[in-house]
Amino acid sequence: LDNGLMRTPPMGWLAWERFRCDIDCDNDPMNCISERLFTDMADWLVKDGWRDLGYVYVNIDDCWSSMERDKQGRLQADPKRFPSGIHKLARYMHDRGLKLGIYGDMGTLTCGGYPGTPLDKIELDAQTFADWEVDMLKYDGCYSNSSEQEKGYPLMSKALNATGRPIGYSCSWPAYQGGLPPKVNYTQLGEICNLWRNYGDIQDSWDSVLAIADWFFANQDTLAPAAGPGRWNDPDMLVVGDFGLSTDQSRSQMALWAIMAAPLFMSNDLRFISNDARAILQNKVVIAINQDPMGVQGRRIVKEKNGIEVFLRPLSNKASALVFFSRRNDMPYRYQTSLKKLNYTAGSYKLFEVYTNRATLLKDSTDFVVSVNPTGVVMFYVSAPADTNLRHFHSDGKL
Ligand code: GLA
Ligand code: GLA
Repeated sequence: LDNGLMRTPPMGWLAWERFRCDIDCDNDPMNCISERLFTDMADWLVKDGWRDLGYVYVNIDDCWSSMERDKQGRLQADPKRFPSGIHKLARYMHDRGLKLGIYGDMGTLTCGGYPGTPLDKIELDAQTFADWEVDMLKYDGCYSNSSEQEKGYPLMSKALNATGRPIGYSCSWPAYQGGLPPKVNYTQLGEICNLWRNYGDIQDSWDSVLAIADWFFANQDTLAPAAGPGRWNDPDMLVVGDFGLSTDQSRSQMALWAIMAAPLFMSNDLRFISNDARAILQNKVVIAINQDPMGVQGRRIVKEKNGIEVFLRPLSNKASALVFFSRRNDMPYRYQTSLKKLNYTAGSYKLFEVYTNRATLLKDSTDFVVSVNPTGVVMFYVSAPADTNLRHFHSDGKL
């Protein structure tokens, strides 16, 4: 969507995967969906350096509202859990250089059973969000059929635009229509939405992360051309920092989401995150790859029978990102290849391994070996072809 927003994939924090629809503030005040949860996360985004790395959206998901609209028919926040209201919460974010995202649903009810925003409420709710100075809307699609969605998603896009407030627009529409043409029209999505959920919900497990990655790369010929500045495929939240992924799997999710030019919305508890997880999520080179201004979504270029897969994302300034991923579950696999075999043919290149900070100069024709851990990755930032007179190759081509 050409509204000037999200020219690179949006980054921030989103409540759903980690905090779901916990509304029991009496017994679970730290974790329930309440203004305190969002101000806590905002404070940590600032304090722990997240904001300065680009993680600026603080996004509310389902279960924020009251069960009833107000007397004028407007959505309202649950008064007990959001006593200061959404407008104040948006101000809290803006005062700290952050942005606030909110959640609505194209249908009679949200997926969690709260009031939805069906066709006849779209303009009213868009105006309410704008009045509250909200910066982003995730528009879910429970409790509507495909013909209502066909009207509703474009209508909300128009309604948000008509408020005059820049509001990033995330559409769950394709996820409700199987994510693929002919039912899903990616040209249209790119015109009306800044990002869109193509596929099912992520859960806190490696199975879930892998199933999502597999679907996106299996359908890359359809999905990759749809992405670009202002319009992104969304494979759903990062679950790095939660309970389900090992360190290697966390590196894998971060690497593959960077290759996919995916929005980076963490759904974790920034108050209690491990140093390991923080280092992965705050890796500057991986973030820079994700945020590359050219905005080309990467692809899987090799799928070996031995379980090794290679992914490549073209980056600006003739650079690229290369990820070697292992689906194996035996031991670190020593994968031998050469840049030439991966279609690099312009001579010599500098490779920087993003998780170990090791750099190597490599001739395109030289065979090298990468050791890839089970369910792990080795990820390189590959600089533009180097000029001449390169020295210092490891004699065995080892990185
Ligand atoms: C759907 C969405 C999720 C989340 C829940 C909330 O399942 O896909 O991301 O928003 O609804 O109920
Ligand atoms: C197709 C497939 C991918 C991958 C590439 C290799 O695009 O969908 O899985 O095998 O070819 O070029």
